[in-house]
Amino acid sequence: MKDKMRIFCGNSNRELSQAIVSELGLKLSPLKISRFSNDNLSVQVLDNVRDRDTFFIQSLTTPVNLHLMEMLITMDALRSASAGRITAVIPYYSYARSDKKDAPRISITARLIADLLKTAGADRVLTMDLHSAQVHGFFSMPVDHLTAVQTIAAYFSAKPEKDEMVVVATDAGGAKRAGLFAQALDTPLAIIDKRRISDTEVTQGEVVGNVAGKDAVIFDDEIATGSTIIETIKTLKKAGTRRIYVSAVHPVLCGSAVANLKDAEIEELVVTNTVAIPEEKQMEKMTILSIAPLMAEAIKRIHTGESVGALFSQ
Ligand code: R5P
Repeated sequence: MKDKMRIFCGNSNRELSQAIVSELGLKLSPLKISRFSNDNLSVQVLDNVRDRDTFFIQSLTTPVNLHLMEMLITMDALRSASAGRITAVIPYYSYARSDKKDAPRISITARLIADLLKTAGADRVLTMDLHSAQVHGFFSMPVDHLTAVQTIAAYFSAKPEKDEMVVVATDAGGAKRAGLFAQALDTPLAIIDKRRISDTEVTQGEVVGNVAGKDAVIFDDEIATGSTIIETIKTLKKAGTRRIYVSAVHPVLCGSAVANLKDAEIEELVVTNTVAIPEEKQMEKMTILSIAPLMAEAIKRIHTGESVGALFSQ
């Protein structure tokens, strides 16, 4: 396997990329990413990729557009260097949130980026917990769409208070994913009626489901500004919830998210490492679960032609 595969990474999440290759018993292949004096990016592939099964790992995290350009230019460089097959490994695909025309004269950017990846040379995509499952269909190439639901559920299953828990979806859009999480945990599900006012503001109405006197685990795909989570905590407290745990796959943690979460009345914040969290954003009550073993297994299966879906059907 070692000889036929090459794995590279961009600058967005080197730690996760390193953990993935370590799981596979491989090393990251070298890439030179630099800037010309006019600020243009330059990427040089420093390994032979001719006819190799090639993977490039990059999360679309801040600075998102720089990381996106790194990825597109690398895809093109790999293709020009005669890579056999190129898989874009995107643990966090941030533009998935721009998945519909919810205002006049806007771009459905999740589809645009999917087209750009194809144009740049990607043959397939491996990603995790897209904001909405239908974004998968924006790609005109094979996509393996992983989920961290089981990884996070396994963590909560080990807690002694598990039987007192209710899983909470922060809005109707997240109900399906939270439902799968509740199913994996074997707990009931509650759903909150949420309206988004702006990029940084949300408001919530009724809780559908019984949360009074219970321990709640809020489950969401991502925490960006944290407005959704903070509003959900308020709603649950009003509804008489006892202890509150927060969990999300992608810890984007922008704006005042960290400051707000530090002060929030929560027992624990459980996230994964799809997005690198700098030390200054980490907090005492935060647990970071690694999705490197899952990503590594999926990469191995893509390489050997085994089923990736079978990973989730056991
Ligand atoms: C929204 O539909 C998503 O599932 C998340 O709830 C949202 O992306 C979180 O954003 P923020 O933390 O800025 O409220």
